[in-house]
Amino acid sequence: MNGFQIVTERLVLTPLGTAYLDSVNEYALDYENTRYMCHLPKQDSDETLSFLKDVDAEWQKDSPGFYEFALLYANDHIGSVSVYFENGVGELGWIIKRKYWGNGFATEAAKGLVDHFSKWGHRRFIAHCDTENIASFRVMEKLGMTRTGKSGGRKNRAATEESFEYQYELEV
Ligand SMILES: CC(C)(COP(=O)(O)OP(=O)(O)OC[C@H]1O[C@@H](n2cnc3c(N)ncnc32)[C@H](O)[C@@H]1OP(=O)(O)O)[C@@H](O)C(=O)NCCC(=O)NCCS
Repeated sequence: MNGFQIVTERLVLTPLGTAYLDSVNEYALDYENTRYMCHLPKQDSDETLSFLKDVDAEWQKDSPGFYEFALLYANDHIGSVSVYFENGVGELGWIIKRKYWGNGFATEAAKGLVDHFSKWGHRRFIAHCDTENIASFRVMEKLGMTRTGKSGGRKNRAATEESFEYQYELEV
C-alpha cells in the first residue's frame, strides 16, 4: 500500500512519515502536549525519526497493521490520528498541537477515520486515556463511544507515578 488520504470538512488526513519530522517534533518533544501519553514525549529528534521510519515502513506493507495520519489544516500540519488493529479491533489515538486545541479538530479527524475504516468493514473501535485527560475522553464521548472500563497501572511516559485510565468502546 502506498497510502491514501481521508478528507473531512476542514482537514486532510494524509500518511504520516519522516517527511513530517520537524512538525511532529513540535508536539512530540513538548511536555505539556504529551503529559498524559504512554509513548510520548520522545526523548529527542532521533527517537521521533526512528518512530517515523517505522510509520513509513508500515505504509509500504500490503496490509498495514496500523495507520498513522498527519492532519493538515490549510496546509499546516496540526497533529495526527491513528488506528492500530489487533484481532480486528481498532485502537484509536490522537494528538493536536497545543495552539489548535479546542476547535473540534481531534473529533473531526477521528470521525473521518472511523467512517473510513467502517466502510472497509471494521466494526469495533476502542480507545484509552488517563482519567485526568478530560479533553481526550470528551473526544471519545463526542464520537459516540461508551466508557467500558477503568483500571490502574497506567504509566504515562513523563510521569513519576502510575495513574488510572478509562477504556471506551464503539460498535458501528
Ligand atoms: C486530546 C486532544 C487530542 C483533543 O484535541 P482537540 O482538537 O482540542 O479536541 P476537540 O476540540 O475535538 O474536543 C475537546 C473537548 O474536550 C473539552 N475539554 C478540553 N479540556 C477540558 C477541560 N479541562 N474540562 C472540560 N472539558 C474540556 C473541550 O471543550 C471539547 O469538548 P466540547 O466540544 O464538548 O466543548 C488534545 O487535547 C491533545 O492533543 N492533547 C494532548 C495529547 C493527548 O493527550 N492525546 C490523547 C492521548 S490518550
